[in-house]
Amino acid sequence: MTTSISLADNDLFAQGAPWGVFDDLRRHDPVSWQPEPAPNKGFWAVTRYQDIVDVLRDPQTYSSEIAAVNLEELDESQIEIRKSMLETDGERHRALRKLLQHEFTPRALAIYETFLRGLTASTLDEALTRPSFDFVESVAADFPIRVLAQLLNVPDADIPQLIKWGNRMVGNTDPEHADVLLGTEESEQYRDLPFRSPAALEVFDYGFRLADQRRGGDGSDLVSRLVNGVPIDGIPLNDRDFRNYFLLLVIAGNETTRHTISHTMRHLIDHPEAVELLRAQPERIEWAVEEFLRYASPVYHFRRTARVDTELGGRSIKAGDKVVVWFASGNRDDAVFADPYRFDVTRRPNEHMAFGRGGPHMCLGNSLARMEIRIMFEDLLARPFDIQRNGEIEYLRSNFVHGIKRFPVRAVAR
Ligand code: HEM
Repeated sequence: MTTSISLADNDLFAQGAPWGVFDDLRRHDPVSWQPEPAPNKGFWAVTRYQDIVDVLRDPQTYSSEIAAVNLEELDESQIEIRKSMLETDGERHRALRKLLQHEFTPRALAIYETFLRGLTASTLDEALTRPSFDFVESVAADFPIRVLAQLLNVPDADIPQLIKWGNRMVGNTDPEHADVLLGTEESEQYRDLPFRSPAALEVFDYGFRLADQRRGGDGSDLVSRLVNGVPIDGIPLNDRDFRNYFLLLVIAGNETTRHTISHTMRHLIDHPEAVELLRAQPERIEWAVEEFLRYASPVYHFRRTARVDTELGGRSIKAGDKVVVWFASGNRDDAVFADPYRFDVTRRPNEHMAFGRGGPHMCLGNSLARMEIRIMFEDLLARPFDIQRNGEIEYLRSNFVHGIKRFPVRAVAR
């Protein structure tokens, strides 16, 4: 049993996902008390699929709003100032979500199919002109952010900056990416900012400049929708609501899809039989994307906070306790997925929880992410090249995002 190992320790994740630790926890201590260094107070780690679903689907008991949705402890004023849709419950959450929900439906996204195909083709054309390249930098990071730039209607020239902001914020526990490491005394001065990252200030400025340009206009981009739309509860977005919503979109639409594409490339290299099948029957790729997502599990966890005393998996949870659901672990639960460590692109059903699973906060961008990943691999696998490893993969030091920082590859004609 490895339950003395702490999921709060980012070093545990520095070489990729600690699958063995998740396996032990699910088997021996599925709702496990995890101590944390002060000032944090410790949390419950929920590692079984069904317990995770139970938490996600019961926002009355497990709130997103009364504290943060990550491990950091916040005081009342920080909770207020850092609140986004992700940290909102009930009616207001529904109203904020509805404001952009239409833009993310498969039907609304269908108009981007041709655009995405062109974008994928140019990203791959450019990468494949070189005999060896970094897959993250040249393919995986570039493509999702270009899509986001289109949705936000910002120029391509801003793309490198958007990538850097994402890296600096999500990389707040990785010394290579963070301006200021989370948990250090220096980070105290940034305590009111998402991820405690000074990069958030730059994102806010950028968002407000776009908002000023588009307020009162008739644009259909996401920023125009946020500044000119009124949520169904009739309460317009104030500056705090706007900037946190904007920042959430910049982060959510950027890092997660990128890492799914990188992980999937890695798994396809290791599974030539899957590549062969998908090349012979490319119509299977759309379904295979579900296995790509399950296997990659790019978001490790989110947190809820118990509103009341309750019981979960035989453990007594007290009101105010942090309850952390580990999606990556749920995606390897053999109670739900037969032979969970088999990368099976034909797996059916495949009710993975990479986007959450039910519950009000289920990923808003899931159809967009699925479409991006599908189009990327439809194009990549059709090319007369095999991608091979060309060096060591380096992972993000983060227990929040299962990220790949570097992935040297070479393209070999087949
Ligand atoms: C592979 C890619 C992605 C993964 C794995 C992913 C994963 C997640 C997860 C796990 C959640 C929280 C679910 C919950 O608490 O129940 C979430 C929420 C969210 N995601 Fe994604 N996401 C991805 C891509 C995207 C994209 C492309 C966008 C938009 C551009 C996006 C926008 C959002 C938003 C706005 C929320 C908050 C929803 C709410 O609070 O109601 N995501 N995502």
